[in-house]
Amino acid sequence: MTDHRTDHLDRYAVLGHPIHHSMSPRIHAEFAAQTGQQLSYVAMDVTPEALTSRLAQLPNEGFRGVNITVPHKEAAWAYAKAQGRLTERAALAGAVNTLAWNKEGLLGDNTDGQGLLNDLQQRHQRTLAGQRILLLGAGGAARGVILPLLAAQPTALTIANRSAPRAEGLAALFSPYALSSNAGQTPCHLQGCGLEALAGLIHAQGPFDVVINATSASLSGEAISLPTGSLTQDAFAYDMMYGKTLTPFLAAQKAAGVLHLADGLGMLVEQAAVAFALWRGVAPVTAPVYQALRTSLQDK
Ligand code: ATR
Repeated sequence: MTDHRTDHLDRYAVLGHPIHHSMSPRIHAEFAAQTGQQLSYVAMDVTPEALTSRLAQLPNEGFRGVNITVPHKEAAWAYAKAQGRLTERAALAGAVNTLAWNKEGLLGDNTDGQGLLNDLQQRHQRTLAGQRILLLGAGGAARGVILPLLAAQPTALTIANRSAPRAEGLAALFSPYALSSNAGQTPCHLQGCGLEALAGLIHAQGPFDVVINATSASLSGEAISLPTGSLTQDAFAYDMMYGKTLTPFLAAQKAAGVLHLADGLGMLVEQAAVAFALWRGVAPVTAPVYQALRTSLQDK
């Protein structure tokens, strides 16, 4: 049944499969209320087989944009590449989390990396410039944040993965972007390795200031253990996953004495805020939305 009260509104949605746990409708409803934007935003369960035809229909049904989540980020990237344009960060990420239909047609973007940066640098007050960063994982989640991480000008970015060739491949792919074109800036030392090579590498090059877990190991309740001495005393450990309690990765880092810890709930809110600003031209304030989500997560 059509809801006539929302007929006239610009429509937005998050597409995934499954999708019932998504917090995006709540986040965007709160952003819209806060900024006075008139829009509707729903969760839409779309199977992989139906994705392309659904994406083709959506603009005819009044949709101005969608978020894309698991398992569609790569397929939606291919769709946007073929049918429209990609931002540079999305082109390199190989995945999109945001699509927008505007006057120029379809635009595919990836706001995950900017979301991570905003969370780390603004909410958690951790400046990444001049830091040595360890990125764990070489799947879609890791690839999506590399370009924005390089833009934050760390002195080193090491991608470490269970399967070394995937990490080495990503380092090679992004190496042109590690060499700063601005005179006077030190290029970032970008490299990829296997997890088992980390101990030797840290021995030779020194510990990391920031570690970011972009693996899906937490999903199976596993924690990736880092060699002793991997992190500096004032290091920050970040997990892109989040939950009611500390993720297995963060719990392991806490046990190892790491003082600064954060999970990915803030990244979820921040990537949504960047998408909202792209669609509506107005940036929402994220702190109250983040706090509300954190409270409901803890009440669960
Ligand atoms: P995503 O899109 O979430 O990144 P993915 O592309 O399937 O998902 O990648 C999952 C990442 O988590 C990979 O880096 C994977 O390592 P491999 O490339 O070696 O498979 C990593 N991963 C998953 N489970 C892991 C575990 N138990 N220990 C270490 N790494 C793990």
